[in-house]
Amino acid sequence: MSSNKTSVLFVCLGNICRSPSAEAVFTKMAQNQNLDLVIDSAGTAGYHTGAEPDKRSQAVGLERGYSFKGLKCRKVTPEDFDKFDYILGMDNKNISNLLEICPKGHEDKVGLFLSFADLQEKEVPDPYYGGKKGFEYVLDLIEEGSKGLIRQLQDNQLDCYNTNE
Ligand code: 4NP
Repeated sequence: MSSNKTSVLFVCLGNICRSPSAEAVFTKMAQNQNLDLVIDSAGTAGYHTGAEPDKRSQAVGLERGYSFKGLKCRKVTPEDFDKFDYILGMDNKNISNLLEICPKGHEDKVGLFLSFADLQEKEVPDPYYGGKKGFEYVLDLIEEGSKGLIRQLQDNQLDCYNTNE
């Protein structure tokens, strides 16, 4: 990003279920901690470009108080690897897709989102073809990953404190 704020890009396949949910959850948690970050999400595929997040993701997220307002699906671009400090995939396939298009020298920005959580589960599973329980579970994992990432940013004392308040 042109600013020097710490920036995080969440990535899944379609950018309509997992990564926009991660964007919504992490945005709220960062605001609650007064962290001033650049936060976005994108998909490795462009099937749903321009679409709003999946209604089922929105329904379970809204029940927990997260906002999906204004979120629109987009595909990852090569420029994202310049712009973002953390490029976090939901599963191992997202990581391999990201590394295929990652410009040389930026590979260390790419990692699994749940590596920040203290969980057995290492990937956020794709809920698209399942039921509501799968969407709830995705949100449980995303909340844990987000808490861990916030802790990491705070421990590193990165330049992410909002000094305007
Ligand atoms: P997401 O879920 O990667 O969490 O956004 C999916 C959304 C759409 C499709 C697959 C996964 N799809 O095949 O259309």
